Amino acid sequence: MCKPTVQYLPIMPADPSLSAVRVITIDGPTASGKGTVARIVAEKLGFHYLDSGALYRLVALSVLRGNIPPDDEAAIAGIAATLPCRFEGDRIFLAGEDVTDVIRAEATGIMASRVGALPAVRQALISLQTGFRRPPGLVADGRDMGTVIFPDARLKVFLTASVEARAERRYKQLMGKGFSGNIVSLRQDLSERDERDARRDVAPLVPAADARTLDTTHMGIHEAVSQVLEWFRAIRQPGNC
Ligand code: C5P
Repeated sequence: MCKPTVQYLPIMPADPSLSAVRVITIDGPTASGKGTVARIVAEKLGFHYLDSGALYRLVALSVLRGNIPPDDEAAIAGIAATLPCRFEGDRIFLAGEDVTDVIRAEATGIMASRVGALPAVRQALISLQTGFRRPPGLVADGRDMGTVIFPDARLKVFLTASVEARAERRYKQLMGKGFSGNIVSLRQDLSERDERDARRDVAPLVPAADARTLDTTHMGIHEAVSQVLEWFRAIRQPGNC
């Protein structure tokens, strides 16, 4: 079967005035803490927040619920292009249903990484993501925020942590949400997902050339937040932007 030839170019804002809106991108592997760090940084700066992984998870949930074959790229891209989602504070809605916790299930995350490898799906989600760029600023977390979606971001961070630390964090997160989990199989799932995210043909998980790497294996959330804010403030210094 031949692959669709989607040309995957870095995105520039359609409205040039939006290029003045500052963006901080926080990319990294699953359970590296980027979601929590990005949310707090956004809150502290009064910026909007984009959890791009949630979009892939919403598509995945629709695929699972609709029993759609995970390789039916055209059907899944159709779902992504017309995703009936709404973000309200920290709640996420799909066709009016609050699915904030449902989409965090491990099976949904695994399906998200499968649908995220389909070029037409990634393409279909672009305008939804760039639409989050609104004044006074945006903090966006994901895998390709700094490389593809917001290549002109003011600050790009690549957050990492060892697979053991991430498996432990994901385990606690799942328990906190009432899901079951097994640390050994979680570690295995994370490794497989990292591998798939890093090896896919389009928008693979790689740090942007101009990203700053932050290893949070031995770091608390607040320390990571302080580091990101410090980097951002340093860039904002007059004569240093
Ligand atoms: O970040 P989170 O674990 O919620 O993302 C779920 C999956 O969605 C990831 O494993 C990844 O495959 C996919 N994803 C992506 N590009 C993004 C965000 C998430 O491919 N920008």
